[in-house]
Amino acid sequence: MRIAFIGDIVGQPGRNMIRDYLPKLIKDENIDFVIANYENASHGFGLTLKNCNELFSYGIDVMSGGNHTWDKKDILPLLDSHEILRPHNYPSDVPGTGCKVYEVCGEKLAVLNLMGHYSMPYTDNAFRCANETIENLNAANIKNIFVDFHAEATSEKRGMMMLLQGKVSGLIGTHTHVGTDDFQISQGTAYLTDMGLTGCRDNVIGMDAKVPLKQFLTGLKGHYDIPKKCKKILQIAVMDIEDSQCKAAFKIKQFCNGNVIKTDAWVEED
Ligand code: FE2
Repeated sequence: MRIAFIGDIVGQPGRNMIRDYLPKLIKDENIDFVIANYENASHGFGLTLKNCNELFSYGIDVMSGGNHTWDKKDILPLLDSHEILRPHNYPSDVPGTGCKVYEVCGEKLAVLNLMGHYSMPYTDNAFRCANETIENLNAANIKNIFVDFHAEATSEKRGMMMLLQGKVSGLIGTHTHVGTDDFQISQGTAYLTDMGLTGCRDNVIGMDAKVPLKQFLTGLKGHYDIPKKCKKILQIAVMDIEDSQCKAAFKIKQFCNGNVIKTDAWVEED
């Protein structure tokens, strides 16, 4: 199976890039299943019902979340009615789930959403949650597993990779909105520390630069906003999974002027 992952979709510019390019990418690259992160999709904070339906209509199959999952009130019914995840390491009495299993190309694929700890809300231990969940999936004979690890610290993401390499098909980080340059396949696990945003590529992490700059210059906080006009990018990772192992992977940067940069993941030596 060939699966694809899109990181944080930020506001309308991000949604418009998905609208303009994802259907063609799915077709041209023969993608069987698309996972994307929704937590910044509605004006940078959370997800509305309208934007949720809009994003699914462009070919996304399941969406994962993070610390902004709860920002819009629509999320509570959406967790039941749509293919929407929230980080799995929230306590078990929190609504929704962070792990769902799908049928892709006649095989089972589990999608697991986890959230890190540094500068994040209080949750259960992401690393223990990962171990336990993967054990349970394997006991149910589910070996194709993709993880969206929503975390701030690169060290936590790399640590999760060391824990899960050889145990999951793919592990990609989200949340920082800035893509890292370490896409690799290690022991059959595709790994990238951060996917990078889909949305405005200029300004500051997809948001209008005015407020963060004022904050950095004065120490006074303000409400972050989506730029009225900006240069946009869509970033997507494509992974070929066979017998639960990632055999090949590449990342596409699709720019709003039509330009494309494609980069292969390197295969780490055993
Ligand atoms: Fe986040």
